[in-house]
Amino acid sequence: MNYKVAIIGSGTMGSGIAQVAATAGCVVKVFDTKQEALDKSRHSLEKILSRLIEKGRIDEVEKNRIQSNIVYVDQLKELSHTDLTIEAIIEDLEVKKKVFSELEKYISKDSIIASNTSSLSIASIASSLQNPERCIGIHFFNPAPLMKLVEVIPAVQTSQDTVNKVVGVIKEWNKTVAIAKDTPGFIVNRVARPFYGEALRIYEEGIADIITIDTSLKAIGGFRMGPFELMDFIGNDINYTVTETVFKAFYYDPRYKPSFTQKRLSEAGYLGRKSGKGYYEYDEKGIIQTNTSVAKKDTELAQYIFNRVLVMLINEAADALFWNIASAEDIDNAMTKGVNYPKGLLAWADKKGIDWCVNKLDKLYNEYHEDRYRCSPILRRMERENRRFFK
Ligand SMILES: NC(=O)c1ccc[n+]([C@@H]2O[C@H](COP(=O)([O-])OP(=O)(O)OC[C@H]3O[C@@H](n4cnc5c(N)ncnc54)[C@H](O)[C@@H]3O)[C@@H](O)[C@H]2O)c1
Repeated sequence: MNYKVAIIGSGTMGSGIAQVAATAGCVVKVFDTKQEALDKSRHSLEKILSRLIEKGRIDEVEKNRIQSNIVYVDQLKELSHTDLTIEAIIEDLEVKKKVFSELEKYISKDSIIASNTSSLSIASIASSLQNPERCIGIHFFNPAPLMKLVEVIPAVQTSQDTVNKVVGVIKEWNKTVAIAKDTPGFIVNRVARPFYGEALRIYEEGIADIITIDTSLKAIGGFRMGPFELMDFIGNDINYTVTETVFKAFYYDPRYKPSFTQKRLSEAGYLGRKSGKGYYEYDEKGIIQTNTSVAKKDTELAQYIFNRVLVMLINEAADALFWNIASAEDIDNAMTKGVNYPKGLLAWADKKGIDWCVNKLDKLYNEYHEDRYRCSPILRRMERENRRFFK
């Protein structure tokens, strides 16, 4: 493929996306304002590719091919003559807008400009352009070379031609595309909120301790990591900020209310693996230190925890479908390929039974009388009509 690609920002995401595009055969120009960031990106690619050789996944020829496809530049104007630019700089709307409007001076009218933003609206970023129909969200997951999913987010200004071209390119990069509406959290960062939020709620209510909650979700649900392990892995500061951003962006919908437990951990600097302490304690290699507490051997409690978190996740996925955020297939693909859930949530709802979901949610609502537990209208309608999400 001879697509000319540009990446703005050579941090974690920019470097990963550059590797993906270069591996797929694109010529990639990587720009960053900091020379150290460009050097770091080049060195980290060298290390990653050498490791792949050690593991026998690629050979020296392939390594050289990928590396020679990437050019590191320190001037924005050197990104002219590109077909597609993906921006992965700091999450700041004003800074992104400034970079986009400057970039537009150097590139042709039909060159596509995309943002890898996790939380900003694509419409607001696109508004900085003279030709906003060329602007779109392309949301990769970390680490970009390993995670299969890419959310593609058209803004209200985006042309269908831009969507088609981007979907074609990302598929050629061997990724799974999920098209999402330009709404807070897109698919994954919205639908995944109860995995953390409901686990924290169960803990805060004193229903179970951290290790029992994690163990229940792994043992019964087949999740690779429990919610607390995962929050420690992501970083409590980052995970808390995503929740707070989604909460505010949804006009303070109580479903997304952040937790004081996580806020306090974040304020204390107990960020998780990266700081050596979060919900668990870690050694220098990031391995959890033997914890004195062990998971309670109470199968009824474990089942209660799993059911409660699962039904809240299903409700969120169903509600995303209700509001046409994405198709049922894309919602399920997003969760299995973007955050490695063992099953798609809507397929899981079919398996459990829609009536099971409605009953569980109504039980929670009747107990708490909080809007957080309101059942999505789509589930109620489907129960009434005896329908499933998939055939
Ligand atoms: N880290 C993740 O897990 C993740 C996942 C998905 C999306 N994102 C999004 O991707 C974007 C980048 O995140 P990251 O984690 O790679 O950040 P990062 O801090 O690792 O890298 C950002 C890079 O951008 C550079 N930069 C800052 N301002 C710039 C400018 N004006 N012009 C050029 N370069 C500039 C910085 O020097 C830095 O090298 C953010 O919008 C973030 O929300 C992050």
